[in-house]
Amino acid sequence: MNADPQLHQVDVLVLGAGAAGLTAALSIPKHLSVAVLTKDPSGGSTRWAQGGVAAVIDDQDSIESHVDDTLIAGAGLCHQDVVEHVVSSAREAIDWLVEQGVAFTKSEESFHLTREGGHSHRRILHAADATGWAIQDALDRQASEAENITFYHNFIAVDLCFDRGRGPRTRRVRGCYVLNKQTGEVDTFLAHAVILATGGASKVYKYTSNPDGASGDGIAMAWRAGCRVANMEFNQFHPTCLFHPDAKSFLISEAVRGEGGILRLPDGTQFMPGFDPRAELAPRDIVARAIDHEMKRIGADHVYLDITHRDPEFIKSHFPTIYQRLIELDIDMTKDWIPVVPAAHYTCGGVLVDLQGETDLAGLYAIGEVSSTGLHGANRMASNSLLECIVYGRSAAHHIALTVHADVAHPGVDQWDASQVIDSDEDVVIAHNWAEIRRFMWDYVGIVRTDKRLQRALNRVQLLAREIQDFYANYRITAHLIELRNLAVVAELIIRSALKREESRGLHFTLDHPDLSKHPDDTVLIPGKER
Ligand code: FAD
Ligand code: SIN
Repeated sequence: MNADPQLHQVDVLVLGAGAAGLTAALSIPKHLSVAVLTKDPSGGSTRWAQGGVAAVIDDQDSIESHVDDTLIAGAGLCHQDVVEHVVSSAREAIDWLVEQGVAFTKSEESFHLTREGGHSHRRILHAADATGWAIQDALDRQASEAENITFYHNFIAVDLCFDRGRGPRTRRVRGCYVLNKQTGEVDTFLAHAVILATGGASKVYKYTSNPDGASGDGIAMAWRAGCRVANMEFNQFHPTCLFHPDAKSFLISEAVRGEGGILRLPDGTQFMPGFDPRAELAPRDIVARAIDHEMKRIGADHVYLDITHRDPEFIKSHFPTIYQRLIELDIDMTKDWIPVVPAAHYTCGGVLVDLQGETDLAGLYAIGEVSSTGLHGANRMASNSLLECIVYGRSAAHHIALTVHADVAHPGVDQWDASQVIDSDEDVVIAHNWAEIRRFMWDYVGIVRTDKRLQRALNRVQLLAREIQDFYANYRITAHLIELRNLAVVAELIIRSALKREESRGLHFTLDHPDLSKHPDDTVLIPGKER
């Protein structure tokens, strides 16, 4: 279907409808109009979150302990002020989620709390093993009832737009160019504030726990617009994704290890105590590296997770989603060991923001997995991500409430120009480029890195980026081309950051620099300065 490109004018534009985007949309005052865009109605990572949300609830637990655990998992790079801010806002965030209708699992009168890696207490609130589903459902329901919020599904943001004629240093973000996937036209959305809540970039790796849309669009858009990005080398690999030819991207929650699951080699040996005294509940970077090491040592393509020693009824009631999915694949986790492998799971770095989620550009915010707040450092602790989405979604909305006024006229922006492009007959090349990036990122920029492999990956991605730019300039854009272009940007940011970090820390491990640097710092990339 063809139609003319449309101009939409709102007070606030939210790109993304996961935990971060919807928390912000729902927290913006009702007199401001909000447009929420999704590129695909099936949603981002939020819906697939299993384990839960971390918060200090138990009397025996403390804010200090949650802060300390986060700092330890982050391996020296967390920003302590941010960690303290997020952790001490957790109780309020949980109360807010409950008000929105999220039904966390209860144990008698209180919340049931489970454990995950790195946490020294039980502090994970969850809705059985489908916490993300419960959160997404409740927020979707609330947002669809809110009169000031309009959803635009199947609208994929392409690039940010600015005041007409302003230079790069003084310009303010005024909205976004967006491909309407139904009409094939690029619409313009004008807004007084734009919030990037587009999620992470783990789709840049061949094996990932993430849904298909995790192509780092917001990170790439912000980078092209002139924002700094930080700590992109820290892509987290979840230790236990299901290894099965018929199950793409299915996660086996860390809460299974939290409730006693044991990692075993095919001969039954429990290997984690040999790597870390916290064994299966060591932070994720340590567990994923240990599995990778053992798989390479014995030439196995997976290891096993064993929870068969727990009561079958306990397993079924705590992990109903995982149990059911495994039964469909002929694995009974009450009796069988579960075959598992590490896979790319979470983008710890992203667009650099302050405590309100403000980026380097006036009028632009970044919240949730797209952002780099300083909370996660070199390795995110389990269940701190959904928490960060809620805390920053609310902070950004409060800041916007103070700075954005309704019914102010929108200044002019340049029109999207599609006059020079033609329809592409190169879809197969786009698909090959996608696959190539994801394969060499897995092979050369994975759990164990070397300078030589990183350099090889950089050469490849630069070559592909030139080819992709050529498509972009000459052909009518499609959702696939937009994602491919973003994926190439994100891959290059990860590789460049990894090359800059000449040490091994947290999620970044390189054979060429196996030790810790004495003066660790964030890896901050500045647009126009990286060659
Ligand atoms: P997402 O939920 O990923 O949403 C992104 C949104 O942006 C989507 O609506 C998408 O359509 C939209 N979008 C993207 N690009 C564009 C574009 N170009 N134009 C328009 N829209 C766009 N964390 C925890 O804390 N606890 C857990 O238990 C947990 N379990 C997890 C389990 C799995 C399997 C996975 C994959 C992740 C898990 N995580 C968990 C991580 C956590 O779920 C994510 O970090 C979090 O949900 C990210 O939320 P978000 O709102 O930032 O983005
Ligand atoms: C899980 O359930 O293992 C995922 C938790 C997380 O990524 O925080």
